[in-house]
Amino acid sequence: MFRFSCIFLIFFTPTHAKTNEMYGEITHQCVLDIVQKFSLVKQDTVVDLGSGNGNACFYFSPFVEKCIGYEIVHERYQKSIENNNTTNTEFYWKDFTTLDTIEASVLFTHSTMFDKHLLQNASDLIHRSPTIRIVFSQKALPNMGNRERFYCKFSWSGHVNTEIYVYRPHEEL
Ligand SMILES: C[S@@+](CC[C@H](N)C(=O)[O-])C[C@H]1O[C@@H](n2cnc3c(N)ncnc32)[C@H](O)[C@@H]1O
Repeated sequence: MFRFSCIFLIFFTPTHAKTNEMYGEITHQCVLDIVQKFSLVKQDTVVDLGSGNGNACFYFSPFVEKCIGYEIVHERYQKSIENNNTTNTEFYWKDFTTLDTIEASVLFTHSTMFDKHLLQNASDLIHRSPTIRIVFSQKALPNMGNRERFYCKFSWSGHVNTEIYVYRPHEEL
């Protein structure tokens, strides 16, 4: 019986469980609301830190010049490139904490599962990247100054609106 249980577990453990991370996505409607409320334009470049299967970039791509996603889990990165039917979206299999700087005007991160070190890394990266005019983060980022409040739905939040933290990190410069 024990042997049977082990075999069952090996074959039926979902692949995402191997990464020991929860996976969730922004909804299409939420991206449409962001684009409209914060006036994203065709000249914008969006970067998604932790791009997963790529859906956030696919939703942003019709409204902006380019969307770039960085994802650390290879199978998700692989899915994002397989699903990419756009001409203005690029994905990289990369740990974003290894980036020196980012050349984008808009930064999005669905940071729900980021620990405080990862949040600090994201914040440091944003501070090193002067072209970023607006940041959308599912979790509060340290040392980012005042935030604006914005609410919308994520794949896991059902009918409940979830807060997105909105920052304008270089506005005072
Ligand atoms: C909740 S998913 C978001 C997917 C997508 N951005 C969306 O909203 O639809 C967060 C992703 O961040 C990735 N991630 C976590 N740490 C990372 C790191 N240091 N560098 C790149 N990606 C990371 C996870 O593997 C996961 O796929």
